[in-house]
Formats: sequence, structure tokens, C-alpha cells
Amino acid sequence: MSTPETFTATCSLHGEEVLAQELRRMGLQRVVAESGSVRFSGPLRDGLKACLWSRAASRVLLRLCRFEAMDADALYEGVAALPWTEHLSPDGTLRVDFVGRSLAIRDERFGAQKVKDAIVDSIRSRLGRRPNIDREEPDLIVNAHLRNNLVTISLDLSGDSLHLRTPGRQIGMAPLKETLAAHVLLQADWPRRARAGESLIDPMCGSGTFALEAAGMALDSAPGLVRTRFGFTRWLGHDGAVWSELVAEAWERSRAGANEPCRIHARDIDPSAVSMAEQNAYGLGLSGIEFSCQPFEDMRPVGDRPGLIVANPPYGERLESTETAEAIYRSLGNTLRQQMLGWDAFILAPMGRVSHSLGLKPRARHLVFNGPRECRLLEVAISETAPIRMRSDDVPC
Ligand SMILES: C[S@@+](CC[C@H](N)C(=O)[O-])C[C@H]1O[C@@H](n2cnc3c(N)ncnc32)[C@H](O)[C@@H]1O
Repeated sequence: MSTPETFTATCSLHGEEVLAQELRRMGLQRVVAESGSVRFSGPLRDGLKACLWSRAASRVLLRLCRFEAMDADALYEGVAALPWTEHLSPDGTLRVDFVGRSLAIRDERFGAQKVKDAIVDSIRSRLGRRPNIDREEPDLIVNAHLRNNLVTISLDLSGDSLHLRTPGRQIGMAPLKETLAAHVLLQADWPRRARAGESLIDPMCGSGTFALEAAGMALDSAPGLVRTRFGFTRWLGHDGAVWSELVAEAWERSRAGANEPCRIHARDIDPSAVSMAEQNAYGLGLSGIEFSCQPFEDMRPVGDRPGLIVANPPYGERLESTETAEAIYRSLGNTLRQQMLGWDAFILAPMGRVSHSLGLKPRARHLVFNGPRECRLLEVAISETAPIRMRSDDVPC
């Protein structure tokens, strides 16, 4: 049997445990959460499977080697020693993504330049010609990561970040990244709830990111099926037969899943947001989501049992003043307590006191990054009808 490969799936800080759980459920092996990433190992097929099926990962990297580089020459030598002609032809194109610094390599552009020089020199010394650089659509993306003088060289199997999976995506003022929406839904155990017949409501859907991710999960549709290109597509080591098998399997599952009921309700007070969300669902070929223009204050239970509410209310500098945000959270809390008793809610909230206005005591608080902003994800079991007064020591996660 061939030696297993080592892969790194990257995510935002705080996203590691949810991503690790997602990868384990996919059947991947030796899954270990690290800081801002999850490592796993197995045959190449497992890395391709993660590219096709993971909703929480941003990138999937295939590790080529790790070595100590105390200075730029050691970095060059370590990279040049790899068999690059197995990965890229001299007629191909290359990009190097370099992350990290050390005392000797203080600038990421300088690090990237050294790695690039080592790769093209190595190919030229064997084949007489060298590949060109293409920053936009290269045939191969090499990822170099430097920490504590240790360099890890990997191939980026994903190419464009994996959150880019909604063709022609229409976006409103503050769209969530698909990977964060998926993280929230996985944290809320939505795939199991969907199988158990629960409904999902997003009362402030904007461009519909929660609803689209939730529908993809409920209908067993692989997020990578709509992408035409990955980082491995023009890699010389790509195993087209294994990929075709995985894609055929995913289509099979998606055909079977299309018969599943889709109990997903996406609403927004703004008709243009609802229309964007509908167009995004159409672009993904997802049917069955119920979209409507409605203020969240009109929310009522749907289905034959309590279900899940996910919400990304407007907040923060970009959207509202703190007072307006507090009024929205207060009103949302009142609506949930008075009209949605028995349901569970996962609500994104900014750091600070705004979330107090909800008047709901969270069962758990999780930290997440929404782009560069650290936020709270409040997990609430709606069991009280009267508002709870939060103490200041209830705030920290
Ligand atoms: C931060 S955005 C949601 C973004 C969304 N998660 C996405 O990925 O595009 C907040 C949304 O809340 C909506 N909204 C604000 N007040 C509302 C209300 N009273 N009822 C329903 N929707 C409301 C806004 O129109 C806006 O689309």
C-alpha cells in the first residue's frame, strides 16, 4: 500500500473543531484540529473528497515536505530538492502563496520569491525551460508556510477559496461567507435535524446564504459540484479517474437527495434581498426553499415540530448604530420568546453589550470570525417567555 498523504484543510480561527467534525463525518482518517486548520491523512482520494464535499473548509492543501530553514538559502535549497517536474511542466504556470515570517525571512513577498526561484530553477536545470508566473489562473499553486523556522511546502488542491461556490452570487450589504454559514449550521447540528424532519427559518436572510447552505446539506448536494475548476485540475499529479468517480458518486447522491423534503424558510423585510436570495438559489439549482418578504416580528412556527432559527441581524459600524442594533436585538428577543417557544436559535452577535438586548440566556456561546471581526454565536433554547436580565459577567465567551 502506498504511504498516506498528509492534508491540511484551512479555516478561520475558532472554526477548527467544527471543521474537524465535518471531515470525520465524511469518513476521513487521522483528523487533528490545529490552530486555524485541520490536518488529516490518507490517499489522494481523501483530499479530493474534502475539496468536493467540505462546506466549512476554505482550502485543502497537500503537504509535500516540511523542513527547517534558518535563512533564505536553506529555504531555497529545501524547495529546490523537491521533484517539481512531477508537478508542473515547463509550459505550465505557477503562483506561490507564502505565509509567515522569521528573523531571516521578514517579508512574505521575499519568501515567495525565493520559493518561486527554487521551483523554476529546479525545472529549468532538468528540462532546459522554465514555467511562467500567473497570479490569476495558474496551473499550480504552491503554498509555503513558515513558523518557528519550520517551512511546510504544500500544493493548494482547492485553487480559489472553497467558499466561492455560488455561481453569479448576488450579494447585499453584509453577506456572510458560505463557509461561516456552513459552520453555524454544522454547529447547530442542522444535517441531523433536517433528517429528523425539523424546519429551519432564517428571518433576516439577506442574500440567502444560510438558506442555500442549509438546503445543500438537507438535499445532500456536494458544494464542489458547481465549481468548474480546482487547484488540482491542471496539476500533473492529478488523478482524473478518482475525481470522476467521486463526482459521479456525488451526482448520484444529489439525485437521490433531490427527493428529500426541504423545510427551509428564508425571509427578509427588504424585497430586493429576497429577490437576490431567490436568484442565488436558482443559480445553484436548489428548489424547495420558501422565500418571502416579511418582517421578523411576524415570525410564527412552521411544520409539525419545533425547529431551528438561524439569524444574522444587522449590527456594527457598517450597518447600524449601536442603539439601532440594540433595538433590533431587543425586538428579535421579544419575538422569539413570545412566538417561537420550544425552538432553538443560533444568533450571530457582535462582541460587547448588544447581545444583552436579546433578553435570552444562551445555552452556549461560541466565538467565530465573520471576516476579520470576531463575533459571538449565541446558542439559545427558547424556553422563557419573560426577558432575562443579563449580568455583565454573562458577557464573556
Ligand atoms: C446582515 S444582513 C443578513 C445577511 C445575510 N446573512 C447574507 O448572507 O446575505 C441583515 C438583514 O436583515 C434584514 N432586516 C433588517 N430588519 C429586519 C426586520 N425587521 N425583519 C426582517 N429582516 C430584517 C435586512 O434587510 C438585511 O438583509
